[in-house]
Amino acid sequence: QAQGDAEAGKAKAATCVACHGNDGNSPTDMYPKIAGQHASYLEKQLVEFKAAATGGVGRANAIMAGMVMGLSEQDMADLAAYYASEAITPVATPEEVIEAGEALYRGGDLERGITACIACHSPRGEGLESAKFPRLSGQHPAYIKAQLQAFRSGERDNDPNGMMRDIAKKLTDADIEVLSQYVAGL
Ligand code: HEM
Ligand code: HEM
Repeated sequence: QAQGDAEAGKAKAATCVACHGNDGNSPTDMYPKIAGQHASYLEKQLVEFKAAATGGVGRANAIMAGMVMGLSEQDMADLAAYYASEAITPVATPEEVIEAGEALYRGGDLERGITACIACHSPRGEGLESAKFPRLSGQHPAYIKAQLQAFRSGERDNDPNGMMRDIAKKLTDADIEVLSQYVAGL
């Protein structure tokens, strides 16, 4: 695996700015924030966008496919190191989702077989670099919602061992609405 260099990554990020913003904090929620995300997770996603784009198993996305086609393993490691070194801007949680969001996030739901999100995404939604568990706090709620729906439908299927698929399958639309707003503000 290539060792990422944040300085080199910054120099390679010119084409990403149009969607992900100057520093990885995308100004509109049409695109995810990638600032402050773990390098290990970012690199995995880039590698998997390219794998899917070249006919292999990975993360299929028409827009990102075009972006990663020309990237080498070194480029992807450098870009991941660069975005990981930037800080993500915070998001506020609306008061009305805190109670239900916190209950599911921290406790899961034993009866419905939903594993608590906190087990992998950590108490403050910071994820875990060593395990490639992504940070959720600070992310756009609309993007989080879209990803939970994509895991649930199977459209996004690059989660190791179906970890997210198995959980998302058990989430209702109302759960997804609450969780996506709650975790963004953790
Ligand atoms: C998603 C990196 C350029 C649109 C992502 C993700 C990464 C990434 C790491 C996954 C985020 C996550 O899983 O949390 C990059 C890099 C770029 C680049 C390094 C430059 C080389 C662009 C551009 C666009 C774009 C120019 C718009 C034309 C998107 C969209 C998604 C995404 C729409 C979400 C895909 C989905 O819904 O699954 N990008 N990106 N990206 N990016 Fe980029
Ligand atoms: C990815 C939310 C529970 C492991 C994600 C993403 C979201 C999310 C929104 C996509 C992040 C992005 O694209 O930037 C949640 C919520 C949970 C939950 C709301 C509780 C209902 C868990 C649990 C685990 C887990 C319990 C571990 C067993 C992962 C992993 C990924 C991920 C490994 C990355 C998949 C990949 O490599 O592409 N989660 N999660 N999550 N989550 Fe969760």
